[in-house]
Amino acid sequence: MAGIRTDGVGQTAHRRGVRRGRPATIAAAAVLAGMLWLAPSPVPAGLALAQPQPVEAAPVAGAPYVPTPWPVVRAMLELARVGDTDFVVDLGSGDGRVVIEAALSRGARGLGVEIDSDLVLSSNDEARQLGLSARVAFERRDLFETDLSTATVVTLYLLPRLLMELQPRLARLRPGTRIVSHDFRLGDWKPDATVKVDVPDRAFGPPFSTVYLWVVPAYVQGTWEGSVADRGRSERFRVDLRQDYQALSGTLRVGARSGPIDRAAIAGDQVTFGARIDGAGGPVRHSFEGRSLAGELVGRWTVEAAGRTAGPSAAASASSVAAVARTVARTVATTVAVTATRAEASPVPARRP
Ligand SMILES: C[S@@+](CC[C@H](N)C(=O)[O-])C[C@H]1O[C@@H](n2cnc3c(N)ncnc32)[C@H](O)[C@@H]1O
Repeated sequence: MAGIRTDGVGQTAHRRGVRRGRPATIAAAAVLAGMLWLAPSPVPAGLALAQPQPVEAAPVAGAPYVPTPWPVVRAMLELARVGDTDFVVDLGSGDGRVVIEAALSRGARGLGVEIDSDLVLSSNDEARQLGLSARVAFERRDLFETDLSTATVVTLYLLPRLLMELQPRLARLRPGTRIVSHDFRLGDWKPDATVKVDVPDRAFGPPFSTVYLWVVPAYVQGTWEGSVADRGRSERFRVDLRQDYQALSGTLRVGARSGPIDRAAIAGDQVTFGARIDGAGGPVRHSFEGRSLAGELVGRWTVEAAGRTAGPSAAASASSVAAVARTVARTVATTVAVTATRAEASPVPARRP
C-alpha cells in the first residue's frame, strides 16, 4: 500500500474550507471514526453486517455527515485517475467537496446527491460562487434512487451497511466505471487498488484513512464459441467462463481436447484468459486477449506449440550426429484475430450473481 502524506495547504477557498455546509458534529465524526476503529479493513465477506452498527446514533438517517479530509479527497480522485472526460457522482455528497474538487482540480463534471437539503443548498451555492454551475450540480435525493448510468466515477463515504446494499448495483454499472470508497469496502468485492492516506490531525480514530478502488468488470460469465486457426487448420473452440467479480475460471475446449482456464483476468472490458491443452503432438498453449464488446469477445488469439527447427548444418547432413545435436526445439506462436459469441445456452442473466 502506498502512503500519501498530508500537505495541509489548499489553494482555493473551497480547499481551505472557508465555506462549508453544516459543520460535522463531533458525534457524527465519532460514529464514522468509531466504525473505522471497530471495523478495520479488509472486511471479510459476510462479516460486514455483523459488525457493530452505531448508525442508530447518527444525526441523519442512513449515514452521518462527516466530511472526507482534504488529503483523502485528493487521494480518491487520484486513485480513480479522474480527468476532464469524467462524470463523477458522489453518493451522499455532504458539503459537495468531492464533486467540486473533481471539477476544480481535474476539469471533471459531476453530480452530488444528498438527503440533507441544507447541505444541497450550500453545495450548489459554493459551486455557483466558484463558477462551476455549468459542470456540477447537487440534488436532494435518496442515493438509492439515483440513476448512475452516466457516471464514469462513483465516490462513496458511507457506512458498511449502506455499501452492502449498494454493492450489487455498483457491480452492474458500465464496465470500466471506477468506484472509490473512503474507509469502507464493498462487501466481499476485492478492490483493484488500496491506498493509505495519513490524516494526523483527525479528531477521532486512527490517524489515517484507507481509500479503495474498484473497476467494474465486464460480465463475461457463460459459454462462448468461435473458430481459431491452429497450425493451418480451422478449429472450433468453446470456452466456459465462471466469473467472480474480476476473477475468471473455467474450461477451454479446442476441437476435441480441453484444458482448465488459467492466467485469466478482467479489467473493465479488457478480458484475458489462456489454457494449456495437452494433445498427441505435445502441449499447446492457447491465449486470448481482447475486449467484451456488444455481446462478443473480440480480440487476438495466440497458439503456441513446441515446434522443431533445424540448426545451421542440419540441411547438409540430416543423419550426422552433430547436425541432430544442433536441431533445437522452439516454441512456434501464431496470433490471429477472433470473435467469440455467446452460445445460445448461455444468455446474460437479468441479474448478475
Ligand atoms: C460521511 S458523509 C460523506 C460526505 C461526502 N461524500 C464526503 O466524502 O465528504 C455521508 C453523507 O451521506 C448522506 N446520506 C446518508 N444517507 C443518504 C441517502 N439515503 N441518500 C442521500 N444521502 C445520504 C449524509 O447526509 C451525509 O452527508
